Amino acid sequence: MMQLKMIPGAIALLAGFAFQSAALAADEPIQPIKPPANINLGMVELGKKLYFDPRLSKSGFISCNSCHNLSMGGTDNIPTSIGDKWQQGPINAPTVLNSSLNVAQFWDGRAADLKAQAGGPIANPGEMAFTHTLALGVLESIPGYVREFKQVFGKNKIDIDQVTLAIAEFEKTLVTPNSRFDQWLLGKKDALTADEQAGYKLFKDSGCVACHNGEAVGGNSFQKMGLVEPYKAASPAEGRSAVTGKDADRFNFKVPSLRNVALTYPYFHDGAVWDLKEAVQIMADIQLGQRLSEQEADDMTAYLESLTGEQPQIVLPILPPSRPDTPRPEVKS
Ligand code: HEC
Ligand code: HEC
Repeated sequence: MMQLKMIPGAIALLAGFAFQSAALAADEPIQPIKPPANINLGMVELGKKLYFDPRLSKSGFISCNSCHNLSMGGTDNIPTSIGDKWQQGPINAPTVLNSSLNVAQFWDGRAADLKAQAGGPIANPGEMAFTHTLALGVLESIPGYVREFKQVFGKNKIDIDQVTLAIAEFEKTLVTPNSRFDQWLLGKKDALTADEQAGYKLFKDSGCVACHNGEAVGGNSFQKMGLVEPYKAASPAEGRSAVTGKDADRFNFKVPSLRNVALTYPYFHDGAVWDLKEAVQIMADIQLGQRLSEQEADDMTAYLESLTGEQPQIVLPILPPSRPDTPRPEVKS
């Protein structure tokens, strides 16, 4: 009986260990990125072509990849994007990497999902400056596309729904699993240096995870930019209030994913900050009212750099050629 008495404690201890390692990742406020699932491969291939095809723009020069360059973390690495006729937009281009994990698309969340988003830039006068009708006219004039759309969607006519569905399906594949941090979450304890682990602990303890959490380390809520101290933005954008019409939503922006943040400079919706460490210090100041020491800011930055995952391995698509009767690009005004 004496022995039995001791057993429950020992069992609880052992069970505790087993539970801890199995549930290690689940207990953390951040989860590893999962590889894409349930992907329609034919649609992905078509969507990839459309993503890289500048003929969806009025000038015949700008593709999705111009501003969301997959060689550069899915961004353009400039403060605010340059579109049709060299127009400079009002806001920084977020990465397309892991965008399928976002609660909604755009800084203010005005598009519900990737499909709803994908039609926007084609017809945006400051971006690709085309219309959906004209873009469809171009695609319909290219025999290679007519064949491929028919193969994928089984319909005789190309419509904008098919275009945006295919692009969204391709974007679903643009996830970046297996970062060193994810390996650490999954139990590989030497995947992070001591500084990076200290940075992660600080990221949790100081409250960054209140907003930057989940699989994407962000992307799942709208929060005030300048919660404790105001942020002097270089952009006129007012955020979520543009969608809800509510004054309380002014300067609420979608919390960006911090996955691959080492690649997606410059930072913030106005693209005003080029240095990740400076962005970290600003966040601590204006969101949490905390002044980080140099060491703390260095550790946290080192941690954020461990969030760079495996980049999508893209084989550059060869686009089907235009025909003599394909509507021509309009480069002049
Ligand atoms: C001229 C540059 C430009 C082009 C071309 C462009 N985008 Fe964007 N993209 C942006 C900017 C800027 C934003 C942010 C706009 C905003 O939030 O108001 C954005 C936002 C997005 C987002 C939302 C990401 C997020 O986290 O909210 C996705 C997804 C996206 N673009 C995909 C595409 C696709 C697909 C195409 C091609 C059909 C495309 N973009 C073409 C500049 C561009
Ligand atoms: C109250 C919510 C909140 C907290 C807490 C918070 N953030 Fe943020 N974070 C945001 C929002 C919202 C943005 C986007 C703001 C903008 O650009 O207008 C952002 C942007 C960032 C960016 C820039 C990402 C990019 O791609 O532009 C970094 C880096 C960042 N946060 C790191 C941190 C760190 C580190 C902490 C803790 C010290 C932290 N954040 C705390 C909400 C928060």
